[in-house]
Amino acid sequence: MSKTERVLLLFNAESPTVLDQDYSEDFKKKDWQTEADILRALTELGHTVSLLGLFDDSEILFHKIKLFQPTVIFNLVERFRYDSAHDRDIASLLQLIGIPFTGCGATGMTLCKNKGLSKEILSFHRIRVPDFAIFPRRKPIRRPKNLSFPIFIKPLKEEASMGIAQASFVENDSQFSERIRFIHETLDQDCIAEEYIDGRELYISLLGNKRLEIFPVREIRFNEVPEDEPKVATYRAKWDENYRKKWGIKNQFAGPLPGGIQEKIEKVSKKIYQLLSIRGYARLDMRLTSGGELVFIEANPNPMLAAEEDFAQSALKAGIDFPQLVQRILNLSRPGIED
Ligand SMILES: Nc1ncnc2c1ncn2[C@@H]1O[C@H](COP(=O)(O)OP(=O)(O)O)[C@@H](O)[C@H]1O
Ligand SMILES: [Mg+2]
Repeated sequence: MSKTERVLLLFNAESPTVLDQDYSEDFKKKDWQTEADILRALTELGHTVSLLGLFDDSEILFHKIKLFQPTVIFNLVERFRYDSAHDRDIASLLQLIGIPFTGCGATGMTLCKNKGLSKEILSFHRIRVPDFAIFPRRKPIRRPKNLSFPIFIKPLKEEASMGIAQASFVENDSQFSERIRFIHETLDQDCIAEEYIDGRELYISLLGNKRLEIFPVREIRFNEVPEDEPKVATYRAKWDENYRKKWGIKNQFAGPLPGGIQEKIEKVSKKIYQLLSIRGYARLDMRLTSGGELVFIEANPNPMLAAEEDFAQSALKAGIDFPQLVQRILNLSRPGIED
């Protein structure tokens, strides 16, 4: 039995909060499933837990720490003041405060969040990534010759398939510039245009700091999407239950992989995790082409942790139940503890 901790569970709130806010009604809602699952696990593990939702006030964090004196912070913060770029600023702040916190640090978050920067680093180390070009706002949109159709357009620094739709898949220059302009205007974000990688989409879950454990691979299936349509995890494909039902979209354990691919996945995933300075736990999105080529799509440090989601499901298949997983993540908050 591990020692009991004073755990501050830190997460996002949608409006200003107070120190002793009651979240019991919020935690019954689907949007708060992760927080609710983790709170239950921490309590089951015998830890003393206090809750803090962050919206746009950083001082409340200092007050809470002073009052509660946590020994560790379970960090689920993904944005601040509606801005998802601030996830790494919160991690920086926690680093400065010096109380151990779970998950990825500010450097890893910065490298992974920028879908161009992460690919530049990985391609330097000869890891296969899609060809890509970046299109900043307020600059002319000119497609480089070496980037050929079909192309996939994404906001440069977003998550959870924000700004990703079937229209992100473009096949000619007018669709190309139209989609980039649309992302610039609606999300006020720079764009990345990537070589479209046709193939199976695999999710690889890893746990650890230096020594990494890799869990059984998950795969998203698009069972009812017509043969000639691109099969991509758009916003609706991820979050809209009716849409998922209609198109037979399912997250499940990966079907049989061609010979040698499992070993390749393990080797390259561990390398990616280290190169992008990830800590704690992460889920990598990769594609496997019909020719057996494994292509990096993106890295998600601090992936969604709800018990029903891919990460926890993969861990469970590896024999780590949800409370054990939460405890392992807590243990990893103290760098070096596992080595
Ligand atoms: N280069 C690409 N080729 C093919 N599909 C892609 C490519 N990039 C993204 N996708 C599809 O879009 C989805 C979302 O893209 P991703 O980069 O993972 O963004 P997010 O951070 O929003 O999850 C992926 O899960 C995949 O289905
Ligand atoms: Mg993704």
